[in-house]
Amino acid sequence: MRLEARTAFVTGGASGIGAATARRLAAEGARVAIGDLDEAGAREVAAEIDGFGCALDVADAASARAAVAAATEALGPVDVLVNNAGTDRFAFFVRSDEELWDFVLGVNLRGVLACTHAVLPSMHERGRGVIVNVASEAGRVGSQGSATYSAAKAGVIGFTKAIARESARYGVRCNAVAPGPIETPLLNGAEAQLGELGARLKQGMIDATAMRRSGEPEEIAAAIAFLASDDASYVTGQTLNVSGGLSMW
Ligand SMILES: NC(=O)c1ccc[n+]([C@@H]2O[C@H](COP(=O)([O-])OP(=O)(O)OC[C@H]3O[C@@H](n4cnc5c(N)ncnc54)[C@H](O)[C@@H]3O)[C@@H](O)[C@H]2O)c1
Repeated sequence: MRLEARTAFVTGGASGIGAATARRLAAEGARVAIGDLDEAGAREVAAEIDGFGCALDVADAASARAAVAAATEALGPVDVLVNNAGTDRFAFFVRSDEELWDFVLGVNLRGVLACTHAVLPSMHERGRGVIVNVASEAGRVGSQGSATYSAAKAGVIGFTKAIARESARYGVRCNAVAPGPIETPLLNGAEAQLGELGARLKQGMIDATAMRRSGEPEEIAAAIAFLASDDASYVTGQTLNVSGGLSMW
């Protein structure tokens, strides 16, 4: 039980990678809080693992502060933050507009800043804590139809390194995972939003992996659990690709 007696907070834990991560962290012994735009979904997954579920909009810093305060009251101070909530609106960049930029950057980049800002002072004060950010291979290699999302995820990778440098002296580690194509509603949204073209974008990502397959949410959850645990005690500022070898640097 690598996470015994720790409290974890997973954003976007009602679905996909976040739900798999909440289940995995609980199986490793953590008390798990889940915040999601989908409050009912968060409560449902939380009920399964005897955790705490609440409403959260990561794009709203006040909501992030309130959700972290509620989780802290229910389960104790957050030892492990998993910044997982994310979304995309697939469109070629020339067809995107400022509303799309603000929305996609607001959730995927600003949301990571807001939740980190809500937990970090307490982690510094207590001299312990781990943050795992869910970035994306899109932030390393760029993803067609997802330029703004790629920019946000590259931002998350840079943010991860800066927080690792600022927080090491306080006993806090910060790392990221960069998933490749993972079978979740988000990935399959490409086809829902762009039709045949979206299906081809997804297949293109799968063909770009060395393993020539998509991944399962549990395969990302396993990497997050490793980074959250003391098995990764000398690892900070890193982005671990969990992508069937899509990129190899
Ligand atoms: N699926 C993939 O192929 C893939 C690849 C690389 C990275 N990712 C990243 O993995 C993370 C999880 O995505 P997923 O694939 O499991 O998608 P998903 O759609 O299954 O789950 C995303 C969850 O985030 C929640 N959410 C969305 N906006 C939110 C907000 N503003 N505040 C709080 N919660 C919000 C949703 O309600 C949902 O429960 C995201 O950061 C995504 O960018 C996914």
